Amino acid sequence: VLRTITEPIQRDLEIFEKQFLESLETDVELLNKIVRYMAAHKGKRLRPTLTFLTSHLVGGPTPRTFWAALIVELIHTATLIHDDVVDESEIRRGAASINAIWDNKISILVGDYLFSKALVYMMELGDKNINELISRVTVRMSQGELLQMERARDYTMDEATYFRMISDKTASLISTACQIGVLTAATQDHPPQKAMQEFGEYLGLAFQIKDDLLDYMGESQKMGKPTGNDLKENKITLPLLYALNNGHPVQAQKIRKLLQSDDSMTNFEEIRSFVVESGGILYAQQKANELAERARRILSQFEDSRYRTSLTLLTHFAVNRQN
Ligand code: IPE
Ligand code: IPE
Ligand code: MG
Ligand code: MG
Repeated sequence: VLRTITEPIQRDLEIFEKQFLESLETDVELLNKIVRYMAAHKGKRLRPTLTFLTSHLVGGPTPRTFWAALIVELIHTATLIHDDVVDESEIRRGAASINAIWDNKISILVGDYLFSKALVYMMELGDKNINELISRVTVRMSQGELLQMERARDYTMDEATYFRMISDKTASLISTACQIGVLTAATQDHPPQKAMQEFGEYLGLAFQIKDDLLDYMGESQKMGKPTGNDLKENKITLPLLYALNNGHPVQAQKIRKLLQSDDSMTNFEEIRSFVVESGGILYAQQKANELAERARRILSQFEDSRYRTSLTLLTHFAVNRQN
């Protein structure tokens, strides 16, 4: 499915891949080794895909678009490397995670390296709007991850807190990827930044809800990362949140007890069944679908083109994917 979506920007993505690799060259051998490893195990490149597609809504990418896409993907990659340390996760993108092969110390430093590279490219780009967007988004991402840490094991958390969390840690960067697409595009009179901000926010929320749902229901083979990891880390996501608040109270109380015990993983199947039977999965899927639909409505104000079609397909992919 992603192949069809990226078809109209295949050329842009090829240039992007080349720049991504070149941008990370260094004379530190260990770092080069890790960068080569990362290059061999790419992600879906969802954020650059969004940047290029949205730029094509308004005249297409310029050299600045490529820099901006690079900055965002560097930040995303750095975040994932740090996230795997925090989540003690050993598989990423279908292969051993960096913390699993090297160790936590090296992962922290490599994440910082990618992040610092992003700062340098931001400075070189020297665009006030982009500086502001990127610097604010990184603050939100850190806040989102820390809010999640703070709320681990908080089985009374409300939905509003969950939505704030996923907006900060995930939707904010996806929204930024969409905004920089139009801000750096060839046509510069009145870039539709506000529309892109909202489109990306809705899409990003839907994307993270689906990620959380897949953590219960997905196949780790297809996802390229472990499932059940959120529960292992005591993270309460929408399917469980809904089930605890709307499931049978006696059962919910029993599940809370299981969750509080140290080995919630030995009870994973029981907790999963409770989440499914209480409608938590259906509810989360429905929420994700609603948000994807809202994202699509924003696209309807743009002229029809194959780029817009791809963006529409992406909103479907975000909530129907298995990886
Ligand atoms: C993973 O993001 C983290 C979330 C925001 C759910 P992606 O699913 O975009 O990760 P890659 O880049 O494709 O590996
Ligand atoms: C997304 O949350 C994290 C970031 C924004 C880094 P997850 O912790 O759910 O991401 P995965 O599931 O490890 O990819
Ligand atoms: Mg994680
Ligand atoms: Mg996840």
